[in-house]
Amino acid sequence: KWGSIEVIVGPMYAGKTEELIRRVNRAQIADLKVLVFKPVIDSRYSKDKVTSHNGKQIECQVVENPQEILDYIAKEDFDVLAIDEVQFFGEEIINICQETADKGKRVIVSGLDMDFRGEPFSVAPNLMAVGEYVTKLTAICKVCKMPATRTQRLVDGRPARYTDPIIMVGAKESYEARCRKCHEVVE
Ligand code: ADP
Ligand code: TMP
Ligand code: MG
Ligand code: ZN
Repeated sequence: KWGSIEVIVGPMYAGKTEELIRRVNRAQIADLKVLVFKPVIDSRYSKDKVTSHNGKQIECQVVENPQEILDYIAKEDFDVLAIDEVQFFGEEIINICQETADKGKRVIVSGLDMDFRGEPFSVAPNLMAVGEYVTKLTAICKVCKMPATRTQRLVDGRPARYTDPIIMVGAKESYEARCRKCHEVVE
């Protein structure tokens, strides 16, 4: 049996979660057993569902760390492993994806490839390296309306500072999609 890793990346609002949901739905139509996970930290729209910015939802298991995913997949029979917001997990998530694909399963992960500073974010860049299929989506730049590849963090309406903490859960009140030209970080 042939396994693989599919990686969906891009800035916020690019449609990563919608695309993950679309792939999960289609796998379910094909009668495949899908296990969906998200990290507990992402409680923006729903505590217990994977939810997109425009309200699309699917059921999922909410986990605190990669080990919980390992424990879960060890005792369940499944064909597809799907993980949203992969940037919130530690390095161990890479091995879990690799070993699962090695066992002949289909792995679908989505997450941010860059943080608000425009730098490679956590584990998604490494998953892009080892994955078979990489889909890099763009949003619409809030300023110039061209394709957006970056996420602008705003603090009281102003560009965030380079030294601000990397992790800050949020949506429209703190983040917008921007292109390379319009993206700003204050030193
Ligand atoms: P992601 O998980 O990548 O942040 P979602 O799949 O949750 O994205 O949401 C994508 C949806 O966000 C789009 O279909 C659209 O309805 C909405 N949206 C809001 N702002 C933008 C934007 N600037 N560019 C594109 N889509 C946007
Ligand atoms: P999204 O990609 O589904 O829109 O969700 C991204 C989440 O990541 C959102 O809760 C905001 C958070 N985030 C950070 O913690 N740090 C960052 O640098 C960026 C860009 C987003
Ligand atoms: Mg999302
Ligand atoms: Zn722009």
